[in-house]
Amino acid sequence: MIYPIVAFGDNILRKEAADFHRDSEDLTKLVEGMFDTMYNANGVGLAGPQIGLSKRIFVIDSTKMEEDEETGIKRVFINPEILDEYGNEWEFEEGCLSIPDVHGDVLRPEKLTIRYFDELWNEHEEEFDALTARVIQHEYDHLHGVLFTDYIKGLKKQMLRAKLLSISKGMVKTDYRMKYPDKK
Ligand code: NI
Repeated sequence: MIYPIVAFGDNILRKEAADFHRDSEDLTKLVEGMFDTMYNANGVGLAGPQIGLSKRIFVIDSTKMEEDEETGIKRVFINPEILDEYGNEWEFEEGCLSIPDVHGDVLRPEKLTIRYFDELWNEHEEEFDALTARVIQHEYDHLHGVLFTDYIKGLKKQMLRAKLLSISKGMVKTDYRMKYPDKK
């Protein structure tokens, strides 16, 4: 199932997502739908709030981003907890399926350690770095109501404002289905 993607301006993207309770959703169907929705929009990550589900779950596929495909991962993260972030901060141009046509450089630490459950409810504690860590950090932020545009400041942010407003009104074209908060 392909879900419409919630656009910038919707309050659900600003909410703290709730813990995902086992048996509260059909997890297999949900995960499949999240991956379908993400691939359909050519994304590399998708978080629950972006499909209108304010729960702590996200999916990522960084296999196509990493130069060496084997270092990328396709994975589901449930109730994730970033335990530590370290290494040098580095800048990377991010985008977001909820904020189409907007890109911006964001500084984030290079590495992280994260604890999470997978779709079979096995618990993991793992270290990730480079682009995979980057996607995890971006999606993890979604579970805490944070968007990558929040890190953009000053003049660049001022220039962004009109664009963000027009997205919330549905004045943007995407080749995937979206749900706009203020569309007339
Ligand atoms: Ni995003």
